[in-house]
Amino acid sequence: MFSKMVVSKTVASILFGVGLVAFSVNTMAGQVKPGKKDFTEYCAPCHGAKGEGDGPVAVELATKPANLTLIEKHHGKFDRAWLKAYIDGRSMPRAHGTSKMPVWGRWFALQATAGGLLQEDRITIEKQVNKRIDNLMVYLKSIQVE
Ligand code: HEC
Repeated sequence: MFSKMVVSKTVASILFGVGLVAFSVNTMAGQVKPGKKDFTEYCAPCHGAKGEGDGPVAVELATKPANLTLIEKHHGKFDRAWLKAYIDGRSMPRAHGTSKMPVWGRWFALQATAGGLLQEDRITIEKQVNKRIDNLMVYLKSIQVE
């Protein structure tokens, strides 16, 4: 009787553990995927399909697109706050047109508006912009070289 309970408790905790692993793998995959989709559509033309800075548009640019698999290596760490502001671009100097890297915050916000949200829905628009940039960062993190 006692041992039966111990066994079923053990089984239960193993099942719980397996469930947790499945859950976290799923949520991670769930974020890498949408980030990858946006990456392929919006970033790959310049930064390359694998993010190595060799997209088809790259040869046309005066400033070479960065190799995005080396962010961590070049900056010494994967600085999410900096990266987020950099990709968003609206609070960066290039918001005034000093670099070739597009201002994605403005573009994603425009897309949200085109998707039916009004300018007055600023909070919802910002949430969508943040989510897309967060997803892109999950994807970028997944392609960093060791
Ligand atoms: C029109 C070409 C172009 C597109 C499209 C583009 N980038 Fe860039 N990106 C650049 C260029 C050029 C640089 C180098 C910036 C500079 O030196 O001014 C850069 C730099 C960066 C950097 C800085 C990397 C570092 O280590 O300093 C990040 C991060 C980045 N891009 C992310 C993205 C993401 C994410 C997307 C897609 C949402 C994207 N880029 C789309 C041209 C582009």
